[in-house]
Amino acid sequence: MRFLTIMRLLTGVKPTGGLHIGNYFGAVKNFLDLQRNYESFLFIADYHGFINQQNPDELKSNILEIAADYLAIGLNPSTIIFKQSDVPEVTELAWIFNCLITVPYLERAHAYKNAISKGIKPTVGLFDYPSLMAADILIYESDVVPVGKDQKQHLEITRDIAQKFNQKFGQTFNLPKPIINRDTETIIGLDGRKMSKSYHNTISLFEEKEDLVKKVRSIVTDSKGVNESKDPDQCPIFALHRLFSQDILPELEKRYRIGDIGYKESKDILIENMEKFIAPLRRKREEIISNPEEIKEILRRGAKKARMVAQKKIKEVREKIGVELNYVT
Ligand code: ADP
Ligand code: TRP
Repeated sequence: MRFLTIMRLLTGVKPTGGLHIGNYFGAVKNFLDLQRNYESFLFIADYHGFINQQNPDELKSNILEIAADYLAIGLNPSTIIFKQSDVPEVTELAWIFNCLITVPYLERAHAYKNAISKGIKPTVGLFDYPSLMAADILIYESDVVPVGKDQKQHLEITRDIAQKFNQKFGQTFNLPKPIINRDTETIIGLDGRKMSKSYHNTISLFEEKEDLVKKVRSIVTDSKGVNESKDPDQCPIFALHRLFSQDILPELEKRYRIGDIGYKESKDILIENMEKFIAPLRRKREEIISNPEEIKEILRRGAKKARMVAQKKIKEVREKIGVELNYVT
């Protein structure tokens, strides 16, 4: 039981590739906007990452890279940032959950079903992904969990597991609420599809100017001329203007509709506005990544704090399920 009135916010990110515009506006920004009003935890889900990334050097460097991304975008000084694997109590709790949920229940998870439909032979780890995620969330008694909408089912599973445990062993876990930002549910990528690393259509949140120019210029449009009326809602360039050109959005929309702007000009405006947004983030990130020892120290301090919370909770759980003998030391 926690008696503090301040609510707890938590989210996790896998150390796969860097942050892109889709992650940022779809999920991360939500966390940044909320963190001031909560006691906030942000962790790098390296054991979830390990499911697919089993090259040790790559995994290690990806962990530091993603930590640098997060440190560059404006975490609150009081936000606790740490690495999942530094809190082994989480995997212990996942094991306990594994003994409460059934195989047919986990077989209904979308992510698992997708993997199967692609013909992937799933590891037990992939199958068990939701149980580890539930442990991540419940061990810290999280109240709210900002995620992208693709994570909604994982939050439902987390709540189911919490209820199951509570019914069997008495009130132990509160039921966390997902926070999903409806305005930015799906950020569109360079090819008009959802921006995603798996479609290779992303723009990095720290994109180098030269690459940014190339990428924006490569956005595919129809062949309408400058003076033809265009529907902003059908235009992938305009979809990005909604994020980066907010102060001139009504004017741009009008120019689209009356046929007063060509795609080339629209792209040039977009490049300028994106660069204004990205340049300071890029500088900050370069500064951070140049000092990996400092990143490690931040993660170490974060893990120490997170672990204190987790150890208290796991003790309560161990007592409830009957494995804690409270040896006198
Ligand atoms: P990717 O699809 O590029 O592999 P991840 O699965 O790592 O991205 O996503 C991390 C988080 O960012 C998730 O919460 C996800 O919902 C969110 N997210 C990723 N891409 C988008 C997008 N295009 N629009 C909105 N949210 C997104
Ligand atoms: N599954 C999440 C994703 O793919 C990452 C994650 C792991 C997570 N554990 C979590 C997110 C706990 C929120 C809370 O994006």
